[in-house]
Amino acid sequence: MALLPILCYPDARLHTVAKPVLAVDARIRKLIDDMLETMYEANGIGLAATQVDVHERVIVIDVSEHRNEPLVLVNPEVTWASQDQQVSDEGCLSVPGIYDEVERAAAIKVSALDGEGRSRTIEAEGMLAVCIQHEMDHLLGKVFVEYLSPLKRNRIKTKMLKARRETERA
Ligand code: NI
Repeated sequence: MALLPILCYPDARLHTVAKPVLAVDARIRKLIDDMLETMYEANGIGLAATQVDVHERVIVIDVSEHRNEPLVLVNPEVTWASQDQQVSDEGCLSVPGIYDEVERAAAIKVSALDGEGRSRTIEAEGMLAVCIQHEMDHLLGKVFVEYLSPLKRNRIKTKMLKARRETERA
């Protein structure tokens, strides 16, 4: 396994639309292992392949308390979303240190392949539903700050660019 570098907003590559995975083969299984290791190391609850500059439809998630229930979704598709919405504070490994409220469907059903290429259906609500929708947005090239007002988004962009310059100077 290997840790993968995570792209940071604003980075144009985060806006790439991911392609479907054609086969869950050894290459994809290695990607999944590396993404899980990278997510756990960064203390994240979810990571999309887009964030590690691989533009294929793969996401990994773990919202469990003990960080021992990895969920792998390959080619995920939402098959149902509730009319009910929920608002929650979101953060993102690609936008470190920024948290803000986003409104999303309160419950969803998703069909996907697992890490072995088997089809599965997941019913999710609460934090898991939020996390799946957030990660699936990444696969469409969308970062959660795009739900915020242009004013907030520009402030975040400025802050991220400033932090990047400081890191480069250090
Ligand atoms: Ni994210």
